[in-house]
Amino acid sequence: MKKILVTGGLGFIGSHAVVELQNKGYQVVIIDDLSNSRIEVLDSITSITGIKPDFHQIDLRVKIDVQNFFNNNSIDGIIHFAAFKAVGESVEKPLEYYENNIGSLVYLLQEMRDRKIDNFIFSSSCTVYGQADELPITEKAPIKPAESPYGNTKQIGEEIIKESCNAYNLNAIALRYFNPIGAHDSIKIGELPLGVPQNLIPYVTQTAIGMREELSVFGDDYPTPDGTAIRDYIHVVDLAKAHVLAMKRLLEKKNNKNFETFNVGTGTGSSVMEVINAFEKVSGKPLNYKIVERRQGDITAAYADTTFANEVLEWKSEKTLEEALLSSWKWQQKQ
Ligand code: UFG
Repeated sequence: MKKILVTGGLGFIGSHAVVELQNKGYQVVIIDDLSNSRIEVLDSITSITGIKPDFHQIDLRVKIDVQNFFNNNSIDGIIHFAAFKAVGESVEKPLEYYENNIGSLVYLLQEMRDRKIDNFIFSSSCTVYGQADELPITEKAPIKPAESPYGNTKQIGEEIIKESCNAYNLNAIALRYFNPIGAHDSIKIGELPLGVPQNLIPYVTQTAIGMREELSVFGDDYPTPDGTAIRDYIHVVDLAKAHVLAMKRLLEKKNNKNFETFNVGTGTGSSVMEVINAFEKVSGKPLNYKIVERRQGDITAAYADTTFANEVLEWKSEKTLEEALLSSWKWQQKQ
């Protein structure tokens, strides 16, 4: 049984990936520092799969702790989720973002180099494309200057991995996520935003449940059919499954290059107003919202061309926007 290290395995996407890995028979060991996750998620994962993953509370910025972990565990592959992810916060605290997101990546790659551990999956983001010139966005679209330190950590991260693969004979895949939403079918794991949510869906569900007075729709003067910005919202379970297939590809040595990148989205763009309408339909709740100014740094539209992942990873998103929104709503009601 292959043993996979999942860093950030108690977080939103990480916890769903742990479940899908266990479902496919992988042995999972989690590293998480609990800075943006809860220890209870470990029990929730266990209650979904019936298998308690091995868990280590480690801050990956502490090199000695990382070394000790690898001294005591033999690992066949790493899926690296652990990172800070708030765009706005990264503008306020760039050095924290570089230290955490880049530092932990470098330490992991050093251990891989020194111990000849192969097979690395990296959480990247469609943010690397900025406002792409052509839609849908393929992996060949040019990388645009990062809009935030957070986005820059994803761009630099990809470069560090690519250079390390070349220099140290490692194999890696970067998955460029579009907008992950939703919760597991069991409604036992989901997104747990700290404080006031910055992302659309948690703000929508918190407004519907009465925690927030109203949703601000950031701009209705974009050059889109209804004037609101367009994104590609992907169900987190579909996204999690892409990680399992990417890891399988590396373990079976089916990759064509030592560093590959894949878009992970649905291929369909939805506007903010379409999301609001779909949410109202599935939840049966009218949503209190108002149109306000555009949010600084937001792009007009982004959605994925997923041909590469469809053909090469044999992965395709299966769940609809409505299914994803309904699961987010059930998850919110359960909190
Ligand atoms: N939006 C609102 N009101 C809100 C929150 C969001 O109208 O309260 C709008 C945004 O303006 C945007 C859309 O909803 O048009 C989606 O916004 P999110 O914040 O949910 O997602 P983003 O596309 O802005 O950001 C996401 C990830 C980032 C990543 C980025 C890459 O959260 O980590 O995609 O483009 F960097």
